[in-house]
Amino acid sequence: MNPTDLVFQSYGRCCRKDEFFVDFYDFFMSSSDAIRNRFLNTDMSAQRHLLRNGVMQIILVARGMSDRKLRDLGESHNRHNYNIQPEWYDLWQEALLKTVRAHDPEYTPELREAWRSVLKPGIDLIRGAY
Ligand code: HEM
Repeated sequence: MNPTDLVFQSYGRCCRKDEFFVDFYDFFMSSSDAIRNRFLNTDMSAQRHLLRNGVMQIILVARGMSDRKLRDLGESHNRHNYNIQPEWYDLWQEALLKTVRAHDPEYTPELREAWRSVLKPGIDLIRGAY
């Protein structure tokens, strides 16, 4: 199986439980106070749904779909809008991989590398719009 198929199926297993997104934000917000502060006024229940979609967009772009929605995320996250620091994306990715490891019963080191390679173009695009 190629990396995008592996990740597509892994994400399907992860999304079966809403706790995946609860745990993701717990891990992500624990990675720094600066990040936690960004979500002080956020409706986290809505945010978890938006993220569910955002991760799917990254996977679909890696599978060849249009990157229009990711370019919109690049715009909302850039210095003129949410002002998300480029280095925070590494924490975002680490929190996501940690959550996949905790939730996907079929997790392997090979799958981790597949996730890294599939996330890279989407993260680079959003971060690159800073
Ligand atoms: C909002 C996805 C990285 C902070 C959003 C939204 C999505 C999203 C789908 C809602 C749509 C929007 O407002 O444009 C992603 C993806 C990321 C990422 C896919 C990784 C590639 C980050 C990082 C931070 C962050 C690293 C750092 C703190 C925020 C904030 C909001 C937001 C503060 C607005 C929350 C609110 O409405 O109160 N993100 N995000 N995001 N994201 Fe991200």
